[in-house]
Amino acid sequence: MKYSSIAGTGGYLPERVMTNAELEALVDTTDQWIRERTGIRKRHLVAPGQTCSDLAEIAARRALKAAQMEPAEIDLIVVATTTPDQIFPSLACLLQQQLDIHGCAAFDVQAVCTGFVYALSVADQFVRTGNASRVLVVGAETMSRIIDWRDRNTCVLFGDGAGAVVLKASDEPGVLSTHIHADGAYKDLLQVRGGLVQGFDNAFMEMRGNEVFKMAVTTLGSIVDETLAANGMDQSDVDWLVPHQANIRIIKATARKLKLPMDRVVVTVAEHGNTSSASIPLAFDEAVRDGRIRRGETVLMEGFGGGFTWGSVLLRY
Ligand code: UT7
Repeated sequence: MKYSSIAGTGGYLPERVMTNAELEALVDTTDQWIRERTGIRKRHLVAPGQTCSDLAEIAARRALKAAQMEPAEIDLIVVATTTPDQIFPSLACLLQQQLDIHGCAAFDVQAVCTGFVYALSVADQFVRTGNASRVLVVGAETMSRIIDWRDRNTCVLFGDGAGAVVLKASDEPGVLSTHIHADGAYKDLLQVRGGLVQGFDNAFMEMRGNEVFKMAVTTLGSIVDETLAANGMDQSDVDWLVPHQANIRIIKATARKLKLPMDRVVVTVAEHGNTSSASIPLAFDEAVRDGRIRRGETVLMEGFGGGFTWGSVLLRY
């Protein structure tokens, strides 16, 4: 049996930092409201001219370095993004070109904030079936480009960034299981209407935040149950929760469900807000690099986002 395992991780946040205080000058909000209702203290924003593929490239190079692998050794690139540079080529192809990789398959996965979980799940299937053995999996976003900076319901929540992992084939797990779901019936609760039909003027995010919040808490609770049951495990078998970083209150609710103390939960939302598909790999990279997550430990990643989409990955690091 072939498994995929994590060979290296990387992350990148653009230099420009926007504080809550700066947002107070843009919309009717306060630093206190943002911190209390979301846990966010700041977010990072791309510079004019800086692209999503630029962010992806830095995160990818860091993951490759950690994996002690050359770009040319990669045989599949899967990129999760909601904010690609162009309609096509895919962000994965742009990244492939920037990394000077030629010939391997490269494609994007679009599942909004669950994107990285979807991408890891897809990459894992390729490795398990023997169709790839060294896969670059990236979550990269420039959410600031689909934010209406006059809308306090959304502009305080999101930020830009990229995270990456390199997966390699292994005789030992690695990824234990992945679980992905979607229900388009909820499409109106969280969306960007703009596109080829409506045009790209005012292609901004709209969210019915409180309804999304309630669905996220319930759904993330059930994906935890599904994941543990599929592996014959219970809560005490999980060493680390690496959740999607949207709101500290959602993260705490999932940790309670798992009966995990908060010091076993990787929380980075204060530092960069919701970076959509980049948030899980960014948090994972931080906890791997600072030595919290160690080889052999069991990690549960979970995410929820527009679509709705939701999912989880259980892995042994
Ligand atoms: O990553 C994908 C999924 N996305 C999420 O997971 C986000 C899910 N939603 C949330 O995180 C939360 O719903 C929010 C942080 C967006 C909002 O928190 P909430 O506790 O659900 O607040 P609410 O929407 O019920 O609004 C409470 C009040 C409202 O005022 P009234 O009607 O009580 O007078 C809002 O108008 O807070 C007001 N409000 C704000 N006040 C100051 C909404 N946004 C702001 C703001 N600053 N930025």
